Amino acid sequence: MFSQLPTPVLDPILSLSVAYRNDMRKEKVDLGIGVYRNSAGETPIMRAIQQAQDVVVSTQKTKSYVGLAGCEEFNQCMINLLLEGTSATDRVAAIQTPGASGALRMLGDLMKVAQPDTTVWISNPSYVNHKPVMEAAGLKVRYYHYFSPVTKQVDAEKMLSDLSQAGPNDVVLLHGCCHNPTGADIDFSAWQAITELAQKNGFTPFVDVAYQGFGDGLEQDVQGLRYMAERVEEMLITTSCSKNFGLYRERTGAAVVVGKSQRDVDNAKGKLLTLARATYTMPPDHGAALVKTILSDQGLTSIWKQELSEMQQRLLNLRQTLCNELRNNHNTTQFDFIESHKGMFTVLGFSQDQMTQLREQYGIYGVGDGRINIAGLSEKDIPYVADAIIKVS
Ligand code: LMR
Repeated sequence: MFSQLPTPVLDPILSLSVAYRNDMRKEKVDLGIGVYRNSAGETPIMRAIQQAQDVVVSTQKTKSYVGLAGCEEFNQCMINLLLEGTSATDRVAAIQTPGASGALRMLGDLMKVAQPDTTVWISNPSYVNHKPVMEAAGLKVRYYHYFSPVTKQVDAEKMLSDLSQAGPNDVVLLHGCCHNPTGADIDFSAWQAITELAQKNGFTPFVDVAYQGFGDGLEQDVQGLRYMAERVEEMLITTSCSKNFGLYRERTGAAVVVGKSQRDVDNAKGKLLTLARATYTMPPDHGAALVKTILSDQGLTSIWKQELSEMQQRLLNLRQTLCNELRNNHNTTQFDFIESHKGMFTVLGFSQDQMTQLREQYGIYGVGDGRINIAGLSEKDIPYVADAIIKVS
């Protein structure tokens, strides 16, 4: 049976990490996979996570099963982080999932059961895993205009014009904040306009929140999401603790549904649990146990918030330093847009060939679509990276 299989196509992000590891050059910089690094180039275990681990290790008495929905206290914590203070909390349900990609798949499977004809609209460009996951769930995918390669900002006019064609059988997938790959976020007025379109045309918004706290702050990063959740009848949300809790390998995320009534979302949750049972049965516990431990303790929560805001500040500083380097030492304002982008990523506007040149000639690993991970820079690399960007551009 295996001889019928075609040669696999490698994941454009995960395969880069392997290539980087195998690159023997001394001068190399990993700006590929979306992982936060400190100035020493490390991805440390966050302080609050270290303390929570001590608590969990000393208090957890069993490794017996938790349940299909994972840890319900964790699920409530995720609902609070996303939707606190909105009326949507009266008609919401959540399940813990293996990372946000697991949540994307569970919600994709749910859509396929609840509304088999669904078309999911994703931004052009979008996170590389959005299309594969939605298609693997059997859904159709369409793109909407999002990014202007000229201004390197969101082209809201084109985006809204495309989305005005979406109707009741459609789901519109948005990035809650820190758009992946571009770093260009929609502003609050665009959130308002999309909400109005959803109300008028009847499509369902689906918001992927993978970087809460990395953009403008924990609350500000979900301002648009909260506005929308108050006003639309139904909504799907995925969230991840990979970045803001640094729990990448622990695969900690949640799938959230907002519905017309508590009864509707209870049914949706029931269906999600059946789907989870048929896929992985239940999510791994450790990451969720840590997050729950932090968010149910005021002291640990404030340590976590402090560190998260230090990480956010570091990203801003790196953006600024890179732009200053390009402006002051290379006399160009061509890359000033980098400073206006949010979160970990920026699209440089380079072609696949230029990205290959960066990798092959300079050992600088960005994604083929032109994305670089700002959080992968260390201060000492900035002159080298700026120089290579200029030589390749
Ligand atoms: C990324 O976009 O680099 C991360 O979200 C990692 C992933 O899962 O692809």
